[in-house]
Amino acid sequence: MNKYLYGIDFGTSNSALSIFDEAKNEIVETITIPSILYFPKELDQTDEITYTVGKHAIQEYVNDGMEGRFMKSIKRVLPRSSFIDTRVGSHKLTAANLVTFIIKDLKQKADTLIGEDCKKAIFGRPVFFDDDDASKDELAHKRLRLAAEKAGFEQIAFQFEPIGAAFAYEQSIKQKERVLVADLGGGTTDFTFIELNPKRNEKKDRREDIFATGGIYIGGDSFDAAFMYQQGTPHFGRGVLYESSPGKMLDLPLSFFTNICSWEKMNFFNGQKIKNDLGMYFYLSKNNPKFKNLLTLTEHNLGYSVFQAIEKTKVELSNSLQSTFQYKQLGIEICDRINLESYNQIIEKDLNKISQYLDTFLVQHQIKTSDINSLFLTGGTSLVQGVQQLFKQKFPNTPINSGDNFISVAKGLAYSGYLFDEL
Ligand SMILES: Nc1ncnc2c1ncn2[C@@H]1O[C@H](COP(=O)(O)OP(=O)(O)OP(=O)(O)O)[C@@H](O)[C@H]1O
Ligand SMILES: [Mg+2]
Repeated sequence: MNKYLYGIDFGTSNSALSIFDEAKNEIVETITIPSILYFPKELDQTDEITYTVGKHAIQEYVNDGMEGRFMKSIKRVLPRSSFIDTRVGSHKLTAANLVTFIIKDLKQKADTLIGEDCKKAIFGRPVFFDDDDASKDELAHKRLRLAAEKAGFEQIAFQFEPIGAAFAYEQSIKQKERVLVADLGGGTTDFTFIELNPKRNEKKDRREDIFATGGIYIGGDSFDAAFMYQQGTPHFGRGVLYESSPGKMLDLPLSFFTNICSWEKMNFFNGQKIKNDLGMYFYLSKNNPKFKNLLTLTEHNLGYSVFQAIEKTKVELSNSLQSTFQYKQLGIEICDRINLESYNQIIEKDLNKISQYLDTFLVQHQIKTSDINSLFLTGGTSLVQGVQQLFKQKFPNTPINSGDNFISVAKGLAYSGYLFDEL
């Protein structure tokens, strides 16, 4: 028998690893890192691929004046068949390569703690990597497995992320409960309806306890994208007119603004042609100062820092009624007071989609509200007040629990060792 196995939650925003001691049947440590990679600019001159991961990646990127390649939300490229590879210096890196760097970092940290090269891991995966497309889902799963192998694992199993979260919650309950678990992360919102029982958590095969799983491709990144569109893009020229022919004023192309609303889309601004286009529209907008902010944003790679300001506003609004969306960099100056009500309006469409999906999920699996003894909410996005409100409204008489928002999935994956018995 192995002494240890790892539960690994490779997340869109954060990744976590729980070290499980199989002999003692307990978790000995859980580590987390932001799912971020940074490749320094000097890479062009060297053959060796050098990179930093997690918090170090953020520090180096900022120290290097936000040059080089900075990557976040890498999990989102896993289901994308159009993403073959990305060039970094002289290297072509596939989606699996990028994920490997993050998993390897976690593995090395954990191996150092236990003093062993652990080969056995249970990886979490969202119920759906992408909505409604089985082939994309299969591709993402294959890429994640490849990354796990490249990182040095030999015995690999997969578990749905919300089931992981459920098993973590099971450690804290005293009696049998039928629980609806919602894991709201950076990229996806996942559900499972499951019977948990503190007496059964050492039982090997848990398949019969799991009644239903489902999910939707909406998470904190979607909220940030909506915020950027509604509140951010007017500062970068949305609404500004340009003179297309003498006396004829038109709106600037919308694609300039939709493409700054999510991290992956910012690549849109990389080529020379788009730079020329931006220059031309700037001239035709009579050097509009707001549109100039877009030129500054794209030229100086400021996307990450703008999204940090957006996230800060969101996090503040999780605990208060007011916040300020504040950003000051290279001549761009934003200082907007935002109240909870207007934030809720910005994310309303996404909240409605989550709500509608949940209704369908319950109907599809014939789950009545009265069948649910309790709810367990986890993941960073479960802290958003509008999200909590949604669940309170839908289940006014059901207890709602939470705990360990950023590590419950990894912990529960580590409790899923039974999966190896099925292999
Ligand atoms: N206090 C907070 N209030 C609101 N949102 C928060 C808070 N803290 C973190 N978040 C958001 O939670 C998300 C990250 O949560 P989490 O770490 O659970 O996601 P993940 O596991 O990386 O993503 P996924 O499970 O979708 O792959 C981010 O969108 C982040 O902005
Ligand atoms: Mg998660």
